[in-house]
Amino acid sequence: MDIVSLGNLFKARRSIRKWKDTPVPESLLAKAIEVAEWSPNSGGKQTYHCYVISNRDKIEAIYRAVQDVTDYLAGLCKSAEDRTSVERWQKNSGFFVKAPVLIAVSVGVYQNVSDKLQAENMDDARVCEINRCRQLASSRVQTVGAFVSHLLLALQVLGLGAVWMVGPTQAKSAVEKIIGINEQEDFVALIPVGYPDESPAAPPRKPVEELITFLR
Ligand SMILES: Cc1cc2nc3c(=O)[nH]c(=O)nc-3n(C[C@H](O)[C@H](O)[C@H](O)COP(=O)(O)O)c2cc1C
Repeated sequence: MDIVSLGNLFKARRSIRKWKDTPVPESLLAKAIEVAEWSPNSGGKQTYHCYVISNRDKIEAIYRAVQDVTDYLAGLCKSAEDRTSVERWQKNSGFFVKAPVLIAVSVGVYQNVSDKLQAENMDDARVCEINRCRQLASSRVQTVGAFVSHLLLALQVLGLGAVWMVGPTQAKSAVEKIIGINEQEDFVALIPVGYPDESPAAPPRKPVEELITFLR
């Protein structure tokens, strides 16, 4: 494969938020996950897990949990200026309930030797600052980012449409209870998947010069 073909694959992927009712074979989802697990992962630990949910009761329970938090937050809006966008968000953020399948991605605990030393020495101000930076650039969350990014491309190649959603993590504890995620893991992303029933235009990207600083 050359860089043009790779670029075309990347450019053809779109976030899909509308799906046909056609069920998605589990074997296809397993194949996509198998390919995506070749993504880079911190410490070679692959501390993520995919919960593939096609059970309608569970999908609807997740929807209700997310909508409940959305409605609560929307109720806090005091600014007339924000009202329209808040109402639009309130109405649209639950579109994932119509997907034939959801992939909820969780991350498990990952502690390297530096993390262990930090955890044992949080009464040291310098360690606290080091730890703040470490949390900000969290390896466990970045590992999931690489995995999800690969997964979306794999799903696309298989003819499926999906969207990476972090919004539903607002209802993290309720969703974890519905899925049965244990206390050692954190729910960090929701990916509704199905056969696409829309072909949205590509949102523009920045000129590459804006994204690079060469230090020569
Ligand atoms: C970390 C992350 C979180 C996202 N969360 C949501 C979300 O909660 N809801 C949603 O509809 N889209 C979400 N998206 C999808 C973006 O809106 C989408 O990728 C962006 O608009 C670019 O469109 P494209 O994916 O079609 O290129 C998320 C994307 C990323 C990378």
